[in-house]
Amino acid sequence: MVRNFFILLVLLSNLMLAQNKLNVIPYPQKVEFLKGEFIIPETLILEGKPLKEDEYLKKHFPKLTYGKKDESHLIFGLFPPSIVPLAEEQEKEKYAVEISPTGIFIQSYTAQGRFLALQTVLQIIEQYKNGGKIPAMKIEDQPKFAWRGMHLDVCRHFFTVDEVKQYIDYLAMYKLNTFHWHLTDDQGWRIEIKKYPKLTQIGSKRKESMIGAYVDNTFDGKPYGPYFYTQEQIKEVVKYAKERHITVVPEIEMPGHALAALSAYPELACTKGPFESATKWGVFDDVFCPKDETFKFLENVLDEVIQLFPSQYIHIGGDECPKTRWKECAHCQELIKKNNLKDEHGLQSYFIHRIEKYINSKGRKIIGWDEILEGGLAPNAAVMSWTGVNGGIEAAKAKHFAVMTPGAYCYFDHYQGDPQSEPNAFGGFTPLDKVYSYNPIPAELNAEQAQYILGVQANLWTEYILDFKQVQYMIFPRLMALSEVGWGTSDPKNYKDFENRVISHFKILNKMNVNYAKSIYNITGKVIPLNNGIAYELYTSQNSNGIRYTLDGTVPTINSKTYQTPVSIPSSLTVKSAYFEDGQLKSAISSQDFTISKSTGKKITLEQQPSENYSFGGAFTLIDGIIGNVKQLGKTWLGFQGKDVVATIDFGQKTDFSEIYFNTLENKGSWIHLAKSAKIFVSDDNKDFKIIKEIGKEDIQNAKGKIQLKLGKQNARYMKIMIENAGIIPAGNPGADSKAWLFVDEIGVN
Ligand code: ACM
Ligand code: ZN
Repeated sequence: MVRNFFILLVLLSNLMLAQNKLNVIPYPQKVEFLKGEFIIPETLILEGKPLKEDEYLKKHFPKLTYGKKDESHLIFGLFPPSIVPLAEEQEKEKYAVEISPTGIFIQSYTAQGRFLALQTVLQIIEQYKNGGKIPAMKIEDQPKFAWRGMHLDVCRHFFTVDEVKQYIDYLAMYKLNTFHWHLTDDQGWRIEIKKYPKLTQIGSKRKESMIGAYVDNTFDGKPYGPYFYTQEQIKEVVKYAKERHITVVPEIEMPGHALAALSAYPELACTKGPFESATKWGVFDDVFCPKDETFKFLENVLDEVIQLFPSQYIHIGGDECPKTRWKECAHCQELIKKNNLKDEHGLQSYFIHRIEKYINSKGRKIIGWDEILEGGLAPNAAVMSWTGVNGGIEAAKAKHFAVMTPGAYCYFDHYQGDPQSEPNAFGGFTPLDKVYSYNPIPAELNAEQAQYILGVQANLWTEYILDFKQVQYMIFPRLMALSEVGWGTSDPKNYKDFENRVISHFKILNKMNVNYAKSIYNITGKVIPLNNGIAYELYTSQNSNGIRYTLDGTVPTINSKTYQTPVSIPSSLTVKSAYFEDGQLKSAISSQDFTISKSTGKKITLEQQPSENYSFGGAFTLIDGIIGNVKQLGKTWLGFQGKDVVATIDFGQKTDFSEIYFNTLENKGSWIHLAKSAKIFVSDDNKDFKIIKEIGKEDIQNAKGKIQLKLGKQNARYMKIMIENAGIIPAGNPGADSKAWLFVDEIGVN
């Protein structure tokens, strides 16, 4: 009896806890529910003097009251004073909210803190307003990271001032505080510079644009531009952001990604030109030549930029600068000799140092992409770590600040759901739960080094994003995951709880007419090893009892098999699945082809791991029964930059086989090259391997990367395959002199 009573209490308190979960994103650091309820609308007491920020509450609380709360003041300082660097920055963003039967009491040190508190209060009101009552509670909150950013590329596609303001509104709603505005690139120069009018007269236009998937190599034939922001418009955006406590960090790309600038001022290149803004996406060989004239130009441009943007940091790009032209340029070679530089990478470093010195002389600091580490980091530069986390680790170890924005977690131009039911996107695969699982502090850093991780940012490159509706689609709901990661209250173990809050926010987005992605409702499939073979696990954010599937290629209906546990895939077939609720189809139809061979689901080891951005599923991806789709570079392929693939498959017992197949990709514009050679070995003890087949570059090229090889009759337990990376990209190709990418999808054996 006593025991039953106890269980009842536990049940009751669980129920109360469940009811009392706030739908606030990012979730506050500390929420304490108190006795009683608060009826909406009621008095709102704000500490101190009226602030502009309070306007945001006017529509909910026509009557605002100012003054000190008479009892039980909220106490600040419950957090360790310095969980992170820039403690003062976090203090600025600290706030407390107390909701009691007598009113809502907000406390903060600064107007920014007040603004953040109001965002929280608005979300709480949104949650409870239908019932009219808010449970009493006390919230104490502050962010973990000082830099919580979103980037927007306005070069590949342009967005109007109004659209940029809406983008800033989204950041404000979710307590992000940095807007990284990518203003110049090969495909367009988008900021008016008074001293160099041709930058926008010529550089803000392009002849046409690439459309469809990159591999299609198709163009729309339509002139694009002139599209740019006048200085007046820039000031308006900066002011708008400031009112929302968001810092705008401008990016002026150098020395690479400079074609649009060179189209206007060809004399700044190593060769004569003429140049045109790029119509394709990718990386281009014509870059700024490091001559005095170029530095003078960039300094003048930066003078105007610094006038317009009050941010502490100026982003100077620095990424993906091919050294092809510098290698052949007499001036560049002389500069290398004169300054005792090691090579062209040293010249990149010279370039960045020189610009940094200039920006420092104006009282500002530089931030740049990973590649500013090339040839040594400039003295107080911050690094934006994008190719993975190594740039951030290297920077932090050298006591430089870093903002983490690794492609695998933070590139919102990647697919967020099965590409078959998503609009055309860049190749990677970054679903909501992947973003949510990100921890900006790399495990490799000790506590002191971790202090140099300034924060986290997501990037929105717009090659495949044609309009603002599509911008909304790509950032929502992933921006919410980023927001909670940056705030420091994300917990991947509680993803389901986060997802429920996201779904509750869809109602808010509906009212705002935001075109958010509903990809989380679609079925996500995951291949798992099972009994020496594979099984397919199906998941939807909704009640999984509603999933129906077929294995015979037919479209699932409500009468098809109900999904219960991972479905064993014994032979080559297609799994089609869909989610039903109340007899109605609620999701897109998902379809996955499987090609089963003797290697499928077997044990596989890789001597070198794939690059982080293209490592989805790890070695298992190579034997998961799924042949690569070129649209799914980040999901069904593994990518290795500058590395060979050396894979050993353990069949578990001696096995007969006589054939092997695998695909490697070619897409030179993206630095992806076919393999140089492939060798196949067999062994019975995993020690002594005997070579049984070797093919060279020519065979691989003739087969266009789709390799299928007869091996003769084999009987072995282990098979090793070595696929040789093309190595350094030869001159005359995009990315010449850089490490080539090798992409491999599935290694099948029959
Ligand atoms: C980048 O994505 N090129 C920084
Ligand atoms: Zn040059």
